[in-house]
Amino acid sequence: MDRILNPFSPGAGAPPPELVGRGPILEQAEVLFARVIAGRTERSMLMTGLRGVGKTVLLNEIARMASQTAFHTIYLEAPEDKGLPDMLAPKLRTLLYDLDRIQGISEKVKRSLRVFRAWLGTPQVTVNDVTFGLGYDPEVGVADSGDLESDLGSLFEAIAEAAQDRGRGVALLIDEVQYLSPVELRALIVAMHRMQQRRLPFVFVGAGLPTLPGLAGDAKSYAERLFQYPVVGALSKEHSFEALVEPVQSLQADFTEEALEEIFSQTDGYPYFLQEWGYQCWNIASASPINLDDVRQATKRVIPRLDESFFRVRYDRLTPAERRYLRAMAELPQPCKSGDVASLLNVKTTSMGPIRAQLMSKGMVYSPAHGDLAYTVPLFGDFMRRAMPWP
Ligand SMILES: Nc1ncnc2c1ncn2[C@@H]1O[C@H](COP(=O)(O)OP(=O)(O)OP(=O)(O)O)[C@@H](O)[C@H]1O
Ligand SMILES: [Mg+2]
Repeated sequence: MDRILNPFSPGAGAPPPELVGRGPILEQAEVLFARVIAGRTERSMLMTGLRGVGKTVLLNEIARMASQTAFHTIYLEAPEDKGLPDMLAPKLRTLLYDLDRIQGISEKVKRSLRVFRAWLGTPQVTVNDVTFGLGYDPEVGVADSGDLESDLGSLFEAIAEAAQDRGRGVALLIDEVQYLSPVELRALIVAMHRMQQRRLPFVFVGAGLPTLPGLAGDAKSYAERLFQYPVVGALSKEHSFEALVEPVQSLQADFTEEALEEIFSQTDGYPYFLQEWGYQCWNIASASPINLDDVRQATKRVIPRLDESFFRVRYDRLTPAERRYLRAMAELPQPCKSGDVASLLNVKTTSMGPIRAQLMSKGMVYSPAHGDLAYTVPLFGDFMRRAMPWP
């Protein structure tokens, strides 16, 4: 079939042709924005899910929703190598100047610019490689202690008051939250606690790996009550079928039932894989409906592609010891116990502690329940069996 028309979106973060099965989470976000802008309290959101399950596209959709509900949005992806303040600074500058440009003078906005200047500690910010001066004197003694945990709340407070004065809210959206440092995560939690207590129109929506609720809880014990933790999971069979069928039907094509069953059994309903299979099936099929034989051929193409990209990028970042650990896990039913991994490798459980910790901080494994261990990348065990022989 016409490759140019292929409706599927393979690849990370690519908006899917149909955002299927996320109604309840989108509704939760809608209620959050509506309540907060109306001056009510509502818990911010931390969405968690495995790799490739659709967190980034969902966060983008929520950002779009926020900007349609009187919120200014700040969208960041927490990097593994750059600090939160450096990421925030240019975005905040843009936001504050946008608020300042609205007609009429707002003292709250002017104050927020001075607080921002105090927090920055320097009179300039670089936005997209261009350095801008800030024409404001610092508000001395506010948000300028140099301690992120106490400063971030004061900064957010000034910004939220400025937005409120303009009849707007602020939505901070952060992807890959698990890569924030413990200090940053704690500062963010403390600041959001303050926003909620003061009922200010400042909302946080984060997305990250399933390790996140634990990390947040370790950072601040009240984090558990401060956020809602919607889980972004694999799609049900019904939703998986819909994710495949809707896009092709919009082009007057279809799948046979058997073909859909086969794709579901190969993908377990993981969105990243559904898009890959859909994409290859479309390219392979010579006519509609796409049938079982087309899917089987697509599988032969998709697996090596995933091995070379989706799985490979993660594998390449591992040390040999980490690889051995993940390979041993693939011999066990999931989730597994670290003790069982250690005995497969003929070593003491305690000696494996550091490797397990490294794998957690790299975001490769997480603990779904106390003592249990699982991959954060769906179907990673199958990949490890293909990639590394087991003696
Ligand atoms: N609800 C959905 N229905 C259909 N396809 C989806 C859905 N959500 C995401 N996808 C598709 O799945 C793929 C992965 O999505 P996305 O990059 O958002 O996942 P992620 O959870 O952010 O992954 P990672 O943890 O690797 O960053 C994309 O190709 C996207 O188009
Ligand atoms: Mg993502």
